[in-house]
Amino acid sequence: MRRESGGGCRILSDEVWTDYDDHAAYGGVVPEIAARSHVERLDLTIEKAVHASGLSFNDIDAIAATAGPGLVGGVMVGLTTAKAICLAHSKPLIAINHLEGHALSARMTEAAGFPYLLLLISGGHTQLIWVAGLGDYRRLGTTIDDAAGEAFDKTAKLLGLGQPGGPRIEAAAANGDADRYDFPKPLQRRSGCDFSFSGLKTAVREATQSMTAPSEANIADIAASFQYAAARHLTQRTERAMAMAPADEATPRLVVAGGVAANGVIRSILSSLCERSGWTLIAPPAKYCTDNGAMIAWAGAERLAANLAPPMDEALALAPRARWPLAPPPEGAAIGGGRKGPKA
Ligand code: KG4
Ligand code: ZN
Repeated sequence: MRRESGGGCRILSDEVWTDYDDHAAYGGVVPEIAARSHVERLDLTIEKAVHASGLSFNDIDAIAATAGPGLVGGVMVGLTTAKAICLAHSKPLIAINHLEGHALSARMTEAAGFPYLLLLISGGHTQLIWVAGLGDYRRLGTTIDDAAGEAFDKTAKLLGLGQPGGPRIEAAAANGDADRYDFPKPLQRRSGCDFSFSGLKTAVREATQSMTAPSEANIADIAASFQYAAARHLTQRTERAMAMAPADEATPRLVVAGGVAANGVIRSILSSLCERSGWTLIAPPAKYCTDNGAMIAWAGAERLAANLAPPMDEALALAPRARWPLAPPPEGAAIGGGRKGPKA
């Protein structure tokens, strides 16, 4: 990608390789298979991207690669490959936090000036973050159990819709009645803007298991009711974060990013919230909501322009990280746990 002088950038090539089919037989993502497909496909994918851009490695100013958080096998393959390219071509290496890639993704194509409130909704994370500037992030809320995308994926599995769950639920829901089931409204009595999706998941399971063989119409109704309940929960917590955010402009900005932000119903309910609250909603095109290399390149370009590219020896010493929080939790918050500490 090439940064434009007036802001934003020109994406010269954008290759995305997905491997859902490799995991389909196992009912979920298998870390070893994911790592192996990175080894098998990454060099070819990079070659295609460089070829499609019309450039050669010599024309490139710097290489950006994800260094975490995520399944560490894949991250390791990507980061090691980037280190090898940087060494071979004497280019700076910029290690990017995957969540920062999502956090800045809207700035690639939209006028999303700092500061803004970010609703980051992906397969592994659900967070509300105040983005004050590049590298200056403050977490306002996070999920206390499942991530939003995880809830979509688990619901799709329960309904026999396959993966990736989000788009399959959205497609099934298009023919369903969102009012048929009144699924729970999580965390109604809890202050702040944290999220919870596990109660919703249980309610969907109970509704599904109450039928011996749910018809296509029943599945569509459950999908639509679940999608609406998830969108309503995301929107209600975002409304709370708007009140907590240090926004002092006449028309503050809400940016939504991450795979789940591709969802049309969620975008439209967030858009109504912004309309009635006097905020501007900014959402990247759906293809830059779900994981893509362009957003990592963009985060790298932003860091390079801000002179934040580390010296080569420091960059080469960087290890991949399975866990890497983007923003510190608010004082006193003790959630987002895990055996080895908070996931993000
Ligand atoms: O950001 P992403 O591509 O990868 C992670 O960083 O996790 O997000 C993937 C998640 C998956 O859970 C997927 O089901 C969900 O985003 N997703 C959607 C939609 N498209 C992708 N969820 C709801 N509606 C969609 N249209
Ligand atoms: Zn992602």
